[in-house]
Amino acid sequence: MEKLWTGRFHKALDSQVNDFNSSISFDSRMYAQDILGSIAHATMLQKGGILSEQDAEQIVSGLQAILEDIQSGALQIDPTAEDIHTFVEAELTARIGDVGKRLHTARSRNDQVALDLRLYLRDQISEVAALVRALIEAVTDKAEEHAETVVPGYTHLQRAQPIVFGHHLMAYAMMLLRDLDRLHDCNKRMAVSPLGSCALAGTTYATDRAFSSKLLGFEKPCENSMDGVSDRDFAIELASAISILMMHLSRFSEEIILWCSWEFKFIELDDAYSTGSSIMPQKKNPDIAELVRGKTGRVYGNLITLLTMLKGLPLAYNKDMQEDKEAIFDSLDTVKQCLAVFAPMIATMKVLGENMRRAAAGGFIGATDCADYLVKKGLPFRTAYKIVGEIVAHCIENGLTLETLPLAEYQKFSPLFAQDVFAAIDLDACAKKRISYGGTSPDSVRRQVQYVREALQTAE
Ligand code: ARG
Repeated sequence: MEKLWTGRFHKALDSQVNDFNSSISFDSRMYAQDILGSIAHATMLQKGGILSEQDAEQIVSGLQAILEDIQSGALQIDPTAEDIHTFVEAELTARIGDVGKRLHTARSRNDQVALDLRLYLRDQISEVAALVRALIEAVTDKAEEHAETVVPGYTHLQRAQPIVFGHHLMAYAMMLLRDLDRLHDCNKRMAVSPLGSCALAGTTYATDRAFSSKLLGFEKPCENSMDGVSDRDFAIELASAISILMMHLSRFSEEIILWCSWEFKFIELDDAYSTGSSIMPQKKNPDIAELVRGKTGRVYGNLITLLTMLKGLPLAYNKDMQEDKEAIFDSLDTVKQCLAVFAPMIATMKVLGENMRRAAAGGFIGATDCADYLVKKGLPFRTAYKIVGEIVAHCIENGLTLETLPLAEYQKFSPLFAQDVFAAIDLDACAKKRISYGGTSPDSVRRQVQYVREALQTAE
């Protein structure tokens, strides 16, 4: 395919350089955005009298036909084209003749590519957001089911205090809700049109950038043409929001992997969402969670690629910026794949409440409540803490637990202990009486569920 810029050159491009320079293999996915951007541009040119009505009509219908033909498969994108912008323009000219060459008036590929990328990423944000929502719903439904299922809460991966499993899950729902918010937030700054910035300096034609911006669903045109063509912070912001989202999924994955182990056995993944081993017949592996955890690394890598690619670039456009696309596209593809399997994995997992309960009963998980018991009887917390520490040490030495230690023994440590201590350290009571706002009590978990469902309803 002939280059757009052959006029100044005496020789064809070296074929290896051609391959090296070409971006069609990855920017062809923006064909629809490229064509819609061109339609808006031609419409604007016609409105301003820069293109005749007849020329504009031919261009617009030619572009619409190209879009339909690519969508239907009737037109294949030429893999030897330099990029998607070149391909569409050349195809248009091949179809409608010289009038097609008028489309690129008052525009450059520099503002065109910045526009296409923003349009494409805006569409992608909606897709990712829909998947995040579905995951939040799955997590929230599971949490509601398990608003009373007692499980150990951990710090330092040591049993700390009893909680209900729904509370643990709702912590992830809150993180994911912020991820959703971050995605919407990216969209706010992405909703600014660079179209009409031209190569870098704007144009002498009487363009109406506000008009083309509106046609494409942007909030407004960008204020500075150099910024419009040079900036990719919108892609970095999205790569960063996706990285944070992946970090949350990765933490969640790590827990799922632990919970599936025989050491925990808190959950069992559905057969459709786990895999077997080629040699060990007993194995049921949490591959999805492991892959999500593993893929988080490449998503972080893409963020660093983008930050590093831009950090030394002088204004305005430099070809380095062509490297933006593969990185952000890979982050999007990866996060979408992960979310698509994560939500049904959560929805179908079996929660083994009995095992959770057994683990919660095993440690000295009621120790804080035992100390609080003494505080309620008048002791300062520090003193109570020390007494309970001594009781725990005594139990460990004698193979006892706080539940099995006889009252008489308790009383040797403090005369304030009475029969009601056993009710105070009862597992269910310990989890369920933490009624403080945001605490683990079942009512609090149900309130959180309500909060998240309402937030999902009001979110754009
Ligand atoms: N393929 C290029 C990119 O992705 C399009 C912009 C080309 N502009 C230029 N001045 N060479 O960045």
